[in-house]
Amino acid sequence: MQILVTGGAGYIGSHTVVELLAQGHEVVVLDDLSNASAEALRRVGEIAGREVELLEVDVTDEAAVLAALEGARPEAVVHFAALKAVGESVEQPERYYRTNVGGTLNLVRAMDAVGCRTLVFSSSATVYGAATQMPLTEDSPLGATNPYGWTKFMTEQVLRDVAASDERWSVALLRYFNPVGAHPSGRIGEDPRGVPNNLVPFIAQVAVGRREQLTVFGDDFDTPDGTGVRDYIHVVDLAEGHVAALAKISGPDGVRGAHAWNLGTGTGSSVRQVVAAFERASGREVPVRVAPRRAGDVATSYADPARARDELGWTARRGLDEMCEDTWRWQSGNPQGYATS
Ligand code: NAD
Ligand code: WQD
Repeated sequence: MQILVTGGAGYIGSHTVVELLAQGHEVVVLDDLSNASAEALRRVGEIAGREVELLEVDVTDEAAVLAALEGARPEAVVHFAALKAVGESVEQPERYYRTNVGGTLNLVRAMDAVGCRTLVFSSSATVYGAATQMPLTEDSPLGATNPYGWTKFMTEQVLRDVAASDERWSVALLRYFNPVGAHPSGRIGEDPRGVPNNLVPFIAQVAVGRREQLTVFGDDFDTPDGTGVRDYIHVVDLAEGHVAALAKISGPDGVRGAHAWNLGTGTGSSVRQVVAAFERASGREVPVRVAPRRAGDVATSYADPARARDELGWTARRGLDEMCEDTWRWQSGNPQGYATS
């Protein structure tokens, strides 16, 4: 298939483009490079053995999005392009709604105009808000606790309504848990700008010597060792989940309508367990200090991944040790990310 991947130069997008190319699909990437590097796509091309076309377009630019779709004529779209920093979304909510919700509206309009109505959307476990009943199933109550979360919640609703209004639409709402890890080649990986917000990139930068110590946000949660428990999923498993979802919703026999699938492992790991796994993988010590809880953090979050297994035939296969080993291969081989390596 001819597939347009928005945000395809980013962390999850670049790994997904590798898997799509490996499946024989043709891929065009639409990305404004606001949180990514063209070097990532060059390396994707290197891994795949063929170049990937990049359209440098901002999803908030409605005319440019339409022109891109008219040029690329995709049969399906995988939509990663979004802003994703929770704290920043509290400071700049309008920008988050404009990019994440408005950008998706532009995309949907352009897709409709060119007759492409097959869409895989990057949703998030954040749409379960402050739910406490674990594991989270796709039928768990939805909500949000910050503007970023609301943008995912609202975009899901937009896409459900669009799909309900016209039976030609097929939409996969993929709810990712905590994506970590890197391609096993060590050539592409997560390269956050500034201080990492997320646990594993922060640990990786401590291990490689860019930061002194990890701050553990709270060790008094109601969890086995007191630190927060999350469902970390290897980014290559996640990428494979996109391929499986695309197969499910595309072609004449593809399922129509909008459907949500959790992409997680079903296993929770605590902050202390992740630190220990990373120390094993890297052979480096990761000094920690314990600080108060971070605002908005829940004690525990993990998926029930049964629906994706039963309906998509997809299961996450890579464990925490492999996630840390692959992250370390990327981080140690590219200490400054894509910048100077
Ligand atoms: P990322 O920032 O690495 O990728 C997003 C990409 O979108 C970047 O390449 C960026 O340059 C591009 N982009 C941003 N604004 C754009 C705009 N206005 N126009 C065009 N391109 C734009 O982030 P990621 O971690 O790869 O996340 C991809 C998607 O998955 C996002 O939608 C994110 O919300 C979602 N998600 C991420 C996580 C996570 O923890 N990483 C978890 C759940 C869901
Ligand atoms: C994991 C655990 C922290 C950093 C966030 C978003 C969510 C989703 C994924 C996109 C928690 C602890 C972290 C640190 C720490 N994104 N921690 N020290 O919070 O589960 O999810 O990213 O949709 O919407 O909220 O992930 O990696 O930030 O934190 O102790 O320096 O690590 O408290 O227990 P989180 P995270």
